[in-house]
Amino acid sequence: MNTRRKFLQSSLFSSIGIVLTKKTLGASDSYPTVKGKPIVISTWDAGLNANKGAWNHLGKGGRALDAVEAGVMVTESEQSCCVGLGANPDRDGFVTLDACIMDDKFNCGSVAFLERIKHPISVARRVMEKTPHVMLVGSGAQQFAVAEGFTLEPQELSPDAKHAYEEWLKKSEYKPVINIENSKGHGPFAPSQFDNGEWNHDTIGMVAMDTDGNLSGSCTTSGMGFKMRGRLGDSPIIGAGLYVDNEVGAATATGQGEDVIRMAGSHTVVEYMRQGLSPEMACKKAIERVVKIKGEKAKDIQVAFLALNKKGEVGGYAIHKGFSYAVKSNDREELVKAKYVMD
Ligand code: GLY
Repeated sequence: MNTRRKFLQSSLFSSIGIVLTKKTLGASDSYPTVKGKPIVISTWDAGLNANKGAWNHLGKGGRALDAVEAGVMVTESEQSCCVGLGANPDRDGFVTLDACIMDDKFNCGSVAFLERIKHPISVARRVMEKTPHVMLVGSGAQQFAVAEGFTLEPQELSPDAKHAYEEWLKKSEYKPVINIENSKGHGPFAPSQFDNGEWNHDTIGMVAMDTDGNLSGSCTTSGMGFKMRGRLGDSPIIGAGLYVDNEVGAATATGQGEDVIRMAGSHTVVEYMRQGLSPEMACKKAIERVVKIKGEKAKDIQVAFLALNKKGEVGGYAIHKGFSYAVKSNDREELVKAKYVMD
């Protein structure tokens, strides 16, 4: 522990389709315009299940806001490396969660560095609806959640996270890299039991349009595995991990949060759509901006954006190969392999 403590004190960042029902879209195709509302899209393979959760509302004419909360709650309840209480801990061994939500009227709520609460997205919604604030963090966010009736869950790691943490502790090497899919289908901290490719997503970001044509979005994550205690990424930051402008469109981000925050990622995508770019081109331009800022180091990180506009057009783009997003509408339910700028 002493060695580790010393390391904790001294170290700084050392570096910083599947088709279900119809056809596979390859990375070279553009996503066709979806005809009609409602529609929901979300990041990574886990988005397929999350979209089903959202559809319980959207399919019955429900509000996009209810859909994006319910949708990502599905992922928060699943066992995964990077979302919910079953996820990887920080480097001190604690799972800390970040989430945000935004509706069609610029109302937004966010929680960060939240511990022992199963559904941070729902706490974020309460912050939006029941406080005059946008963001609560740490013990204050937890106190608010408990006061709102959320259960304080036991402070224990899931078996998968415990195993991953024990493996990480053997070296305690502080090289935080956001979990991304690689050619083997999993990220750098995936334990061996996930070699079957189930280790397949990090943050879940979701944006939706309901039958009334209104947009909302949500984003939830445990952030980087084995991160410095107190580290936040883009996911709880309105404008970075998520942004919604009901006149224009909505966007969300996944990947290395630091590099999304520094160029206000999701807001940038929405602004590109405001200028008339399609969601795909808006995401591409934003990715190109990340790459320009990052220079040579862009080869070492993954960032991806996903967007939906008022016409029901969707698009995504990533720095590297491997980013997928899930789409569900009245006539589609599929996983799309996003285009990327670097091999
Ligand atoms: N995109 C998630 C994070 O960086 O925490």
